[in-house]
Amino acid sequence: MTKFSEIKGFAFDLDGVITDTAKFHTQAWHALADQVNVTWTPELQESLKGIDRMGSLEMILKAGNKQDDYTHDEKVALASWKNNHYVELISGLTPDDILPGMADFIKELNDKGYRASVASASKNAPFILDKLGLTDSFVGIVDPATLHAGKPDPEIFVRAAEILNLLPEQVISLEDSAAGIASINGAGEVSLGIGDTTVLAAANLNFASTAEVTLANIAAKLD
Ligand code: BG6
Ligand code: MG
Repeated sequence: MTKFSEIKGFAFDLDGVITDTAKFHTQAWHALADQVNVTWTPELQESLKGIDRMGSLEMILKAGNKQDDYTHDEKVALASWKNNHYVELISGLTPDDILPGMADFIKELNDKGYRASVASASKNAPFILDKLGLTDSFVGIVDPATLHAGKPDPEIFVRAAEILNLLPEQVISLEDSAAGIASINGAGEVSLGIGDTTVLAAANLNFASTAEVTLANIAAKLD
């Protein structure tokens, strides 16, 4: 695997890595599942992480065998209902909602000259980064509206390295979802999984929580 000394930049997932908005996505999708009479399960919940808005809706409908029950326009309306609910839930975010250790880690990267970008499937990412006071900490954000395919396709993390002007092998990317780890691995970057090691077994490096993510701890695992 890549040596730590070769690493020049980091690409971050947002929801569940920088801030705990994964719980608000879950809350809003669960409400939508109830509305369309699809049974909510822990497995369905986990499988939605990292998946874009319309992809998530399709997975929920499919879980209830209802994927053919709605027209395209009705599906767009359902996704928009979920997003309105979600935006209400995130409207009060402040810098205090950055996950433990992440503000210090991002500052450490900035101070030590590592470049950082954001690779989130969320179209709400610029709004959230602004609320968290982190917009200026990143060189750039991949615009998910410009992607041909979302996670687990590698495209979003390939683009995140391009924004950094680095080769994929010079980048470590952080994720809390299985789809995201598959995307990072496909892009040829070092994948760092945060959370359940069973779900994130394919990650090159695993951390139980954001509080443990520091350059020293990463270097210790890589060298
Ligand atoms: C990802 C989340 O970051 O963004 C998913 O893990 C979410 O749960 C996806 O569906 C899309 O987000 P949005 O804000 O564009 O609906
Ligand atoms: Mg995530």
